[in-house]
Amino acid sequence: MKVDGRHIRSIWVEPDGVSVRAIDQRRLPHEFVVADIADCDAAAEAIRSMLVRGAPLIGATAAYGVALAMRADSSDAALARAYDRLIVTRPTAINLKWALEEMRKALSPLPPSARAAAAFARAGEIAEQDIEINKSIGAHGLAVIEKIRAKKANNRINVLTHCNAGWLATVDWGTATAPIYMAHDRGWDVHVWVDETRPRNQGASLTAWELSHHGVPHTVIPDNTGGHLMQHGMVDLVIVGTDRVAANGDVCNKIGTYLKALAAHDNEVPFYVALPSPTIDFSVSDGKKIPIEQRDADEVTMMRGRTADGRIETVRVVAEGSPVANYAFDVTPARLVTGLITERGVLAADRAALAGAFPERNQKQVP
Ligand code: MRU
Repeated sequence: MKVDGRHIRSIWVEPDGVSVRAIDQRRLPHEFVVADIADCDAAAEAIRSMLVRGAPLIGATAAYGVALAMRADSSDAALARAYDRLIVTRPTAINLKWALEEMRKALSPLPPSARAAAAFARAGEIAEQDIEINKSIGAHGLAVIEKIRAKKANNRINVLTHCNAGWLATVDWGTATAPIYMAHDRGWDVHVWVDETRPRNQGASLTAWELSHHGVPHTVIPDNTGGHLMQHGMVDLVIVGTDRVAANGDVCNKIGTYLKALAAHDNEVPFYVALPSPTIDFSVSDGKKIPIEQRDADEVTMMRGRTADGRIETVRVVAEGSPVANYAFDVTPARLVTGLITERGVLAADRAALAGAFPERNQKQVP
């Protein structure tokens, strides 16, 4: 999508075919910095430190991480080392494992001399595939928005979203945001309520920044505002992303998503989850079995921002000594999900619909 009118992706390879670059998302919205991901270690560190984040982008970065590893050493041992280094960087987004498995599948049968070129090619395909998937999600999501819009006297649509499932979380377009960008591009009157998404503020710092650059009307709201807005008819639908969907349709996403789903259910507001098929984990029968990442207390106790005189500073917002819990994700039970917007259409959040739409993924379970 666009930054200052110029098209850019969240991750890309320079024309030399081997230099991997990504937007440093830790610095947004105050600074736009492009990071050089020079080797496999740098890719792993970029994922761990959340220089890149969002399930599909984590997967694409890991794929490039393997490619960079193969450039340095394309032996079987190096392939195994790259896998092991990258797989431990973040536990919840299944796209990481999916991408690493894809890379291993593509590279293992090849002679080492052919691996580096093949690895960059496969990583590039994974990135391109992500964009195509998101465009399809956008088209299916657009139909959902159109139906809701048609019932409104003023045709104005208010979408609430949580965290950042936008183009920054993917290679381009985003999942939850793809239908929103497409609706906006058609000239529809779409407005987005952006949950700030404490503690890392992906909504306030990233989603709002994206939407601003694309000119989509939006309003940032404190995380606890959604229920109130829904009670007053100010939300027509919720669209969120996800880090992992269990085989039964339970959805794991950024902490706080579950509360939005409960509020949506109570107020009869449709609650949709947008996801690419690599986010489905058929090996996990239900959401309770999805590992939930717990992150540093610093993310809760400290906040980063720009001072009135332009300096970027980090300040403490919690009293010294207070213990902190920082669960990064929660699980929304399938019963609270109106529909799963996938690249193959809008599905019921249940085992039969998921398995029916993606039979090839259902059979090829990763051990
Ligand atoms: O911790 P993050 O910022 O990586 O979490 C991101 C999310 O929870 C997104 O909603 C999810 O990855 C879907 S991205 C299309």
